[in-house]
Amino acid sequence: MTSGTAHTSVGAEPPDSPLELTVNGRPRRALVRSHHTLLEVLRTDLGLTGTKECCLVGECGACTVILDGRSVDACLVLALEAAGSDVVTIEGLAAADGLDALQQAFLDHGAAQCGFCIPGQLVAARALLQAIPEPSRAEVEDGLAGNLCRCAGYEQIIEAVLDAAERQARPAAVHAPERASAPKGPPAGPDPASVPDARVAPQ
Ligand code: FES
Ligand code: FES
Repeated sequence: MTSGTAHTSVGAEPPDSPLELTVNGRPRRALVRSHHTLLEVLRTDLGLTGTKECCLVGECGACTVILDGRSVDACLVLALEAAGSDVVTIEGLAAADGLDALQQAFLDHGAAQCGFCIPGQLVAARALLQAIPEPSRAEVEDGLAGNLCRCAGYEQIIEAVLDAAERQARPAAVHAPERASAPKGPPAGPDPASVPDARVAPQ
């Protein structure tokens, strides 16, 4: 006699589960398997490939995202664990009017070499500056300790984070020396420093 209880047949795939979360300020939905990670959902289901996949065991930090205010390795978070959470990825870092201070500082300090680790470094740095707006060098080193750079560009990365913290904390002070050294007299058109390749333009 057969029982009235339904059983999942051996070897059958469990059904997908609906996942809802907020990513970079936008409500997002996906159907996910219970074993899928947040990293897989971000990259495959949502097309946010700025978050990199590398070791997949939590050792390199290439997949760093901010989950409810904390930086985490997205390869170690099951997607369903992130249900209802607020996630920030590298795609959500830029300000509405352009690069944010961290991104600009990374550019200015030449912190990106091959660039593969940089999304994770930037997101980890953003989480660090949210928690500690004016970190010491040791705090930056500690905050980015989980983010490996195979190009070994650590010095430029640390300098960029310290510079970004300074720019965010004292934007007027950072620009004051430029204003103080500006030549006196009537305005003479655009600042050459703001014009790409101004030094090699034909005279
Ligand atoms: S890919 Fe997640 S820590 Fe390396
Ligand atoms: S810039 Fe190449 S791995 Fe960091």
